[in-house]
Amino acid sequence: MAGTLKYDTKFMEGYIHTEELKRMSKRVKVAHDFLVNRDGEGSDFLGWIDLPVEVDSSLIEEIKKTAEKLRKNSDYIVIIGIGGSYLGARATIESLAPDAEREKILFSGYNMSGHQMADLMDFLRDKDFSVNMISKSGTTTEPAIAFRMLENLLVEKYGEKGTKERVVCTTDKENGALRQIADEKGYKSFVIPDNVGGRFSVFTPVGLVPVACAGIDIKELLEGAKAQREMSMDCDLVTNPSYHYAAIRSMLYRKGKRIEILSSFDSGLHYVDEWWKQLFGESEGKSFHSIFPASCDFSTDLHSMGQLIQEGERNIFETFILIEEEGTRCEIPRSEDDRDNLNYIAGKQLDYVNKKAYEATSEAHFEGGVPNSTIILSKRSPYCLGRLFYFFEMAVAVSAYLAGVNPFNQPGVDSYKNKMFKLLGKPGV
Ligand code: PA5
Repeated sequence: MAGTLKYDTKFMEGYIHTEELKRMSKRVKVAHDFLVNRDGEGSDFLGWIDLPVEVDSSLIEEIKKTAEKLRKNSDYIVIIGIGGSYLGARATIESLAPDAEREKILFSGYNMSGHQMADLMDFLRDKDFSVNMISKSGTTTEPAIAFRMLENLLVEKYGEKGTKERVVCTTDKENGALRQIADEKGYKSFVIPDNVGGRFSVFTPVGLVPVACAGIDIKELLEGAKAQREMSMDCDLVTNPSYHYAAIRSMLYRKGKRIEILSSFDSGLHYVDEWWKQLFGESEGKSFHSIFPASCDFSTDLHSMGQLIQEGERNIFETFILIEEEGTRCEIPRSEDDRDNLNYIAGKQLDYVNKKAYEATSEAHFEGGVPNSTIILSKRSPYCLGRLFYFFEMAVAVSAYLAGVNPFNQPGVDSYKNKMFKLLGKPGV
């Protein structure tokens, strides 16, 4: 079990100068000290820093046992949650689980589309299924509605006793409606630590229970995060890639690069991008100045967004995620007549061609005025994904401190909620 994460900044040349980086390293050290000494803004929410070394083997075993039980008695397991309470799990499952496992995990409660919910209920009516309901506050509208509906369906199918065997709740230790429901009804439950915010919770039962339900090795995921944590305890930009990345973002922002596009040449990583967008958007989007986190799936989006990235407004920088290991299962066949003119790449792996597309794109975009860097994972594995999640968590904390904002709150998200509750006539609003 091993794997590396490297950070390549070759295509930053001309945008980031050594002297600037040196000056920046002093500011990074200040931000690093906030994290290590736990005396910066939001320091009540630093529990995520130690999760990779603190999640103990008894919790891992309990999660695995629970997941095994759900997998045994269900054709489908529905994960209910929104934002930080589902994106880390979805990112891991979509990028690592083989098709046959991935298809058994369904997601709900991440929006309020009536037709999607109705379709899901129709689909599940004659299937064996279980539910993992995840909400730290225990009161978020979207997952609460989905849970009410799916719990009713479970009771209809299995009765209250049977439902008890099929519901797992992940929530606060003491507070919130979900904690009350779980305790009153005797549902199996896991605790989300007080000092870990939603978007930093992938290494708590929030992420680990669903990931184990998909048959993915959660111990390996945590081992990868642990290895990355070791690298992250160092405040030197040269040896700590998270801080190098954070420093570069901050410098580019001040040079007018207001949009960051996270891209990979692998749509399996699509939800890693979605997780990253929340992590950076909610952590940094404050005080009316911040980088807009966007994402693209290449090569697909090169045929839609490629023109804009190459020749649109020059306010963009890009970060690529590259998985170095090449698959060996998909060779391009030779054709007798070569009518499609593809024989020049016959015998090559499709992943090889994909990698050349990445190399060409990063160079072309750089030449077009889009500085870019690449996070290189040696393998597609739980270990490397654990490294990647931790890399970004560390980076965003320092990046937000560099921007002068509290990385761990999200005061803006309540504005629409209050208006919506008023429109819906919620008592007391
Ligand atoms: O990062 C966050 O804090 C949010 O995205 C929350 O995770 C999200 O709103 C869901 O909240 P809860 O887990 O309380 O239902």
